[in-house]
Amino acid sequence: MARISPTLTKNPLASAKVDALVIGVAASAGSKGTLVLAPGAEDVDKAFKKRLLGALTAVGATGKAGEVTKLATLGATTAPMLVAVGLGDQPAKAGQYSPETLRRAIGAAARQLDGIRRIATSLARANGDDSPADVAAVVEGAALGGYRFRRYRSKSKPSVESVAVVVGNPRDKAVKAAYDRGRAIADAVTLCRDLVNTAPADLYPALLAQAAVDACTAAGLQVDVLDEEALQREGFGGVLGVGQGSTHPPRVARITYSAGRGAKATVHLVGKGITFDSGGLALKPAQSMEWMKSDMGGAAAVLSTMAAIGTLKPDIDIVGWIACAENMPSGTAIRPSDVLTIKGGKTVEVLNPDAEGRLVMADCLAAAAAEKPDYIVDVATLTGAQVVALGSHVYGVMANDDGLREQIVAAAGAAGEQAWPMPLPPELRKSLDSDVADIANIGDRNGGMLTAGLFLKEFVPDGLKWAHLDVAGPAFNNGEPHGYTPKGGTGVPVRTLIEWLTSLGA
Ligand code: BES
Ligand code: MN
Ligand code: ZN
Repeated sequence: MARISPTLTKNPLASAKVDALVIGVAASAGSKGTLVLAPGAEDVDKAFKKRLLGALTAVGATGKAGEVTKLATLGATTAPMLVAVGLGDQPAKAGQYSPETLRRAIGAAARQLDGIRRIATSLARANGDDSPADVAAVVEGAALGGYRFRRYRSKSKPSVESVAVVVGNPRDKAVKAAYDRGRAIADAVTLCRDLVNTAPADLYPALLAQAAVDACTAAGLQVDVLDEEALQREGFGGVLGVGQGSTHPPRVARITYSAGRGAKATVHLVGKGITFDSGGLALKPAQSMEWMKSDMGGAAAVLSTMAAIGTLKPDIDIVGWIACAENMPSGTAIRPSDVLTIKGGKTVEVLNPDAEGRLVMADCLAAAAAEKPDYIVDVATLTGAQVVALGSHVYGVMANDDGLREQIVAAAGAAGEQAWPMPLPPELRKSLDSDVADIANIGDRNGGMLTAGLFLKEFVPDGLKWAHLDVAGPAFNNGEPHGYTPKGGTGVPVRTLIEWLTSLGA
């Protein structure tokens, strides 16, 4: 959907045949309020007879991060418009704009240039060279900032369609590899956003599973879909229980990527795919239901990551599970006090049918664990408590292994996402005790993100390294757009997963 294809070029900006040139400016650290030009745009400044900064300052540019200032070029350059995007304070040393600063800058420009179709940018050279990390960041930021979700619009304004990224040598091997990686990442995030933004009537469980089939088989992976009958046969009692109130039956899809001989490790990913979370018989208020189409964000992230893995081909074996169900109230819906048998035999008393995510996750965690991988990482829009604790930019990472938790948090930082380590305090476990079954599906409301994590932990054997990512807030942007992040589906934590998996398989 409105997919942007950035390209690499060595043609100078001043003579680029595009609709707008995007360059970087910053606030100088020393002399207060002075605008400085980031490296890469020297030829444009020359075309402006060295009066570029003066012109930008005259119309109010300050270099503040994300600020977009437009100038008519009046024939100085081939392109009729110049766009200066703020990079924030000039770094203490040359060459220290972070990849994330560049990603956000080009993203802010691509997002806010409605009516402009073709742009060219010098931002990959803002550190003087064009390091592979900067090239990948600009390619990603351009595609992600230019993202539009147009499926349901009968008419829409034109927006950025092509981005030429200026580099010294587009044929350089490392630059080319960075470009390919940036595109694979951007495509995966785009797919994830599209799925999250799709109306729940158009993405019920069977269609979400089919989306995995379509995207992942195209990437050369194998996908097996379990329908109701298969789920019954295989004992996926959590998925079936959550799905039983809906006219759209549940599904589980299992996506397989094999590195071939000599894989360094085996990883299983598990994603929560509640295509709509009404709360079931514990019906949510209308306002909180509005964003519950995003309750399949974990599954969307897992399947999009798997699709990218088919392109990036890391040296590890990876299996992705997506647990797809619709949580609806009806005469057949699961009742508070009903008891479900999760795959593997543990029983759960369902005290609150709105705590449904952990039920579908439990089945797939048990299924993944039965295959004895080296790592399991699950992703779920699991709790409102995550949003209360960490807000909508930072997701929570819980794990039964300190090293794995640290690796995930570090991968998020390296990829331009934000994660924070969260504990699994054993003291909270007894609040999940049930009077009738092995465990109840709700516990202490205080620390609800952690109680939910402790519930999931029950389905992973000790000694099997497991991490749980609660992305309830960050998967969906309810607020204003920023940087390369639009309203709606964000694609979090696709970039973390790709970063972690590819570093594991490097
Ligand atoms: N899907 C929700 C969690 C959620 C809340 C995601 C807000 C995104 C934004 C989940 O299924 C849920 O309803 N959780 C309950 C659990 C409670 C009943 C123990 C919650 O957090 O209120
Ligand atoms: Mn719920
Ligand atoms: Zn939910």
